Amino acid sequence: MAQKLVVGNWKLNGSLAANEALFGAIGAVAGVDAAVCVPFPYLAQAASSLRGLALGAQTVSEFQTGAYTGEVSAEMLAELGCRYVIVGHSERRSLFGEDDAAVGRKAAAALRAGLAPIVCVGESLAEREAGRALDVVGRQLDAVSAVIGASALARVVVAYEPVWAIGTGRAASVDEAQVVHAGIRGWLAGRGAAAARVLYGGSVKADNAAALFATPGIDGGLIGGASLAARDFMAICRAAASGA
Ligand code: 13P
Repeated sequence: MAQKLVVGNWKLNGSLAANEALFGAIGAVAGVDAAVCVPFPYLAQAASSLRGLALGAQTVSEFQTGAYTGEVSAEMLAELGCRYVIVGHSERRSLFGEDDAAVGRKAAAALRAGLAPIVCVGESLAEREAGRALDVVGRQLDAVSAVIGASALARVVVAYEPVWAIGTGRAASVDEAQVVHAGIRGWLAGRGAAAARVLYGGSVKADNAAALFATPGIDGGLIGGASLAARDFMAICRAAASGA
């Protein structure tokens, strides 16, 4: 079985001084692949200060070069040492108007530059209560597949992040997560991409990580708030190692 993957998503947090302290306090854990996705201005600092963790960004332009003020290309991220880039995070979808097709184009841009896109999918509370979680996730994945092609899916990391679990302190229960992860795994397997890793994200903390990581179909985690505290992030990485 592949090692689990734990990815920190710092979101809009950090400062040069705070980052230096955090980078000094996090490091590789044997048996786990770990990465941190930092804001663009801190990529160079992270590339020189991180020890044993991979680097990622939190979004990317669908464009490669040209008159697109404010955009950052996947090629630029690769040049700065990124291995991963998050695409389609629910905050980008809901706050910045990224639709399913745009998420697909961003995933394609990442792959073009040799990055692994971490494609976020997940239902809102209203969609869950309407029994539509699997439909929503399937629609989001179909849109990415339509752009990148099924043959590229094995190079994608999928992150199931139920919107109602993000930043709320209410993680999905093991049973809730297991159902959707099984659905995603089935979707991937049906397209020849059974090897793709599927992460869970949404209120993963040091005290619930081990149970989530022991759940069938969960290959690791995408960690928001807890990735900003070295002790918590390292505890989550260790939980991923022991659950592997
Ligand atoms: P929290 O871990 O803070 O709930 O955030 C999850 C998330 O959005 C990771 O991308």
